[in-house]
Amino acid sequence: MQHFEIVGGNRLKGKVPISGAKNAALPIMAASILVEGETVLRNVPDLADVRQMQVLLSRLGVKSHRDADGAMHLTVEDEMNAHAEYELVSKMRASVCVMGPLLAKRKRAQVSMPGGCAIGARPIDLHIRGLQALGADFELVNGDVLLRAKKLKGAEIFLGGPFGSSVTATANVMMAASLGQGKTVIESAACEPEIVDLANFLNACGARITGHGTPEVTIEGVTSLTGTEHTVIADRIEAGTFMVAAAITNGDLELVGARISHMRAVVDQLRRIGVIIERGETGVSVSSARRLEPVEITTQPYPGFPTDLQAQVMTMLCLADGNSVVTEKIFPDRFMHVPELNRMGAHLRKEGPTVIIEGVKRLVGAPVMASDLRASAALILAGLVAKGTTHISRAYHIDRGYERIEEKLAAVGAKIRRVDD
Ligand code: EPZ
Repeated sequence: MQHFEIVGGNRLKGKVPISGAKNAALPIMAASILVEGETVLRNVPDLADVRQMQVLLSRLGVKSHRDADGAMHLTVEDEMNAHAEYELVSKMRASVCVMGPLLAKRKRAQVSMPGGCAIGARPIDLHIRGLQALGADFELVNGDVLLRAKKLKGAEIFLGGPFGSSVTATANVMMAASLGQGKTVIESAACEPEIVDLANFLNACGARITGHGTPEVTIEGVTSLTGTEHTVIADRIEAGTFMVAAAITNGDLELVGARISHMRAVVDQLRRIGVIIERGETGVSVSSARRLEPVEITTQPYPGFPTDLQAQVMTMLCLADGNSVVTEKIFPDRFMHVPELNRMGAHLRKEGPTVIIEGVKRLVGAPVMASDLRASAALILAGLVAKGTTHISRAYHIDRGYERIEEKLAAVGAKIRRVDD
């Protein structure tokens, strides 16, 4: 195992390359199951979750490799296996994205029910309901979801759940309906940029999807899809994480490749806090006033404030001049970072799905433990500004969603290193 060692206090200055979006790359990789011929994906980040998806796809007969330029080539070589087993799915929730493509292309999908994880229960009832609406038969067999359908027929599907839309359920239904017979309309579809990127990839393969990026997505089924070349969008969550890094260290960063149009709610809140954000030549430039204002933030489905940046912004609000309130409406238990930040001198009080943040003058370095991907990012951000040294154990959590984060931070002045335990 490895941990990060961070000595706080340096202001970050310079250019940070923003990688491709994990949450666009993963469903698009799964979509390669649907197509004839080769798929070539550029700007796929080199992450543990991406490598895990390659392992799962390989078990499902999809071979993949990266060429000398880093582009990922995927080709379906064998369509016999349609079973995504527990030992693979339990490692990564996004494995569920193979369900729709397997059902549509191989008429059968057997996918282990993903267990819960650090951010809460991760049900897939909307995925199942959506695929059943397209004509799939469903049964639960030894903890696996088993879906079968000789053919999928277009339908009108409402995909809203108790917490709003579902990103990967929208992805699964959109992918399956692409090869269904007739027209499908998804109501209460997720509007995330990653869904738009997936739809753009599918349309480039010959699918006929419209309305993507709005709550009503229409898919006219086609008989086959052909592999194509596609460049994955930039990762708005990584970009938001580095925006906080610039603000919390009172630094000045240019986030190369970041797309401000995918981050309106984040930019709006950060500007209220006192962060200066401008569209730069090659991306977005971020700096901050010394004094950070307290704010109230509630996470929402896109275009609202993203749950994946809740922990990172909470770290910054620990140092705001006053009391802030953060309410988590997507994953109400997504607060693993709260006790760890308190160990570093923050004053956070959890009241159900809400955390009251009393601003403090400073954070103090301490040994803390990473738990889930974004909580771990929040602890790294705290370490950048804390007095003294912070040890963050279980670095592997970070590697799931951030490409070489310690190298990117060190390149702009952070004192951070990865250490073998
Ligand atoms: C995607 O997860 C992202 N992962 C998550 O990012 C992100 O936090 C989440 O969307 C919300 O934006 C990928 O895209 C790979 P949901 P997903 O289905 O699709 C409930 C990260 O850190 N729900 O949109 O699994 C669910 O419990 C990860 O990069 C149901 O009730 O999330 C949650 O409360 C973490 N039934 C809400 O909907 C279902 O069938 C939103 O979940 C599905 C979801």
